[in-house]
Amino acid sequence: MTLLCPPGVYRAEDDTAMLTDVMCRGGFALDRDVLDVGTGSGALAVAAARAGAASVTAVDLSLRSVAATWLNARLHRASVRVHRGDLLAPVAGRRFGLVVANPPYVPAATDRLPRHRKARCWDAGPDGRALLDRICAGVRDVLTPSGAVLLVHSEVCDPDLTLAALDRAGLVPQILAKATVPFGPVMRARAALLEARGLISPGQREEELVVVGARDA
Ligand SMILES: C[S@@+](CC[C@H](N)C(=O)[O-])C[C@H]1O[C@@H](n2cnc3c(N)ncnc32)[C@H](O)[C@@H]1O
Repeated sequence: MTLLCPPGVYRAEDDTAMLTDVMCRGGFALDRDVLDVGTGSGALAVAAARAGAASVTAVDLSLRSVAATWLNARLHRASVRVHRGDLLAPVAGRRFGLVVANPPYVPAATDRLPRHRKARCWDAGPDGRALLDRICAGVRDVLTPSGAVLLVHSEVCDPDLTLAALDRAGLVPQILAKATVPFGPVMRARAALLEARGLISPGQREEELVVVGARDA
């Protein structure tokens, strides 16, 4: 699928493709109201619309991403409502049958989250969990009783913590897919920091990506 990706907007990568694949193969979006949190270029939102979603809503903090998603939805004749805002805040009070998210998850040097541009696509605090933990804690509030959430992230930010966080939120989580991929440019540039923190083994230059799914208990 061709998507416009202006400077500063996350270009769909292996993580995007993995989550799209799980969503489409599992029929998760079919006839559901779908929410894509941190939509970037709108890749997951457009894929959900094409996979038969009843409606698609997309959220991103970045104005450029909101604009790109709006354009890409038009380009693919997909009906997607796009909101600018922080994670689940723009949809507070609404409920969705499926929430998908490929949030920023790369461990960063500090716990200060970037306010502008590309780094906002991946920096997620010292352990990479700043956004993931907030999504896990809040997602049940925007799910219908039979709703599901699908998240993708790297092993580097510990899938067991995601399973535990979703469990604490009252959901039943499981790992739905795993794939080992070579480090991209951001992970390569952070390798020394990740080694020093013990988040990767010395010399490790590939990571396992994990798709976690969860439903209401
Ligand atoms: C890794 S990119 C994923 C983009 C897209 N979903 C994909 O899979 O290709 C993460 C996205 O989350 C957005 N983001 C970062 N912090 C956010 C926040 N607090 N609320 C909403 N979106 C946020 C970034 O702007 C970026 O577009």
